[in-house]
Amino acid sequence: MMFKQELIKKIVSETNLAPSTHNTQPARWSFLENTSILLSAGCTRFLPAGGPINRDAALSCGAALEGTIMALAEVGIKATNIDDLWAANDCVTIKGHRLAAKINIKGDAVSFPLNKAITKRFTWRAKFLPCENTMTQALNKWSRSKSDVTLAISKSDIDFLSQQNDKSSLHFMRDKAFRNELVEWMRLSTSHQNYTCDGLNLDALQMSAIEGFGAKIVLGTGLFNALDSMRLAKPLIGEEAQTKSSSAITLFHRPKDESPIETGRAFYRFWLEMTDLGFSAWPMAVVADNEESANECAERFSIPQEHRLVNVLRVGKAGGQRPKTARLDFADLIK
Ligand SMILES: Cc1cc2nc3c(=O)[nH]c(=O)nc-3n(C[C@H](O)[C@H](O)[C@H](O)COP(=O)(O)O)c2cc1C
Repeated sequence: MMFKQELIKKIVSETNLAPSTHNTQPARWSFLENTSILLSAGCTRFLPAGGPINRDAALSCGAALEGTIMALAEVGIKATNIDDLWAANDCVTIKGHRLAAKINIKGDAVSFPLNKAITKRFTWRAKFLPCENTMTQALNKWSRSKSDVTLAISKSDIDFLSQQNDKSSLHFMRDKAFRNELVEWMRLSTSHQNYTCDGLNLDALQMSAIEGFGAKIVLGTGLFNALDSMRLAKPLIGEEAQTKSSSAITLFHRPKDESPIETGRAFYRFWLEMTDLGFSAWPMAVVADNEESANECAERFSIPQEHRLVNVLRVGKAGGQRPKTARLDFADLIK
């Protein structure tokens, strides 16, 4: 088959709706001849302070890979073999990019039922509205059918995870390099040149212009440490009210020895399945990334020994309009 420009644009634009850490959108697509697609991660989009061994970029590329397979199926193209290239750590073949995966194409496909959730999924970073019992029942039933999902639904479990989130956020925010990296990806003024392209903008963060101004001063200067020494940092960055408004919290865990590309693929499917059940979601990756809280969660929720906690998502009904999604232009995504 022949990849026409219009088709490439359709596939890549839909695929780039996949979630990525801090909305860094690290995935880049190279359409090779007519039988394969090479997926790579732009090294300038890595988050070294946020996670070891660029795991964040790998998870995001995994989500993009799953999105690509889904977008291909939508236009009737079947992805046959997927070569996971992450472990090879090849940053030479495409200069400034680490190879993530190769998708080989052969034959026809039919669209997946989950495709319809792609344009409905988004991150909701504010209070949730209570949802109907039928929705939580469906969530309960769905989670029981999944070996990589554990559902926290009781008030005491939600309170526990809310505390773990605020404690872990503070733990990471005390690290200047983490804070600087986060601020670098925040678009705290509508005049930021990348406001509509990437990163976390005021709409996505559900912040007013004044709040954005305040956040920049607190996080981007030494003021954070000063407030922290007065025990004011925790109430400032805490999300207790929002977390406690969620209808449930899903703990997503995958085999410890799994490639992060594969984990990212499963993460996207997991999020889309919750979207399909009518839920909006807001991750708390810090709970999984902080060893202490990950261990406490593993014990409390009996996460299987051979699994690691990947992420923890608040879920519920969004309490307002979905925020405008910032995404890069198609031309920036092709290598
Ligand atoms: C691996 C991974 C971890 C994430 N962790 C968080 C998180 O801890 N907090 C958060 O607010 N969003 C988190 N997100 C969501 C991204 O920030 C979000 O997908 C991105 O900003 C794009 O926005 P959208 O989901 O609305 O399309 C995560 C996404 C991925 C792929």
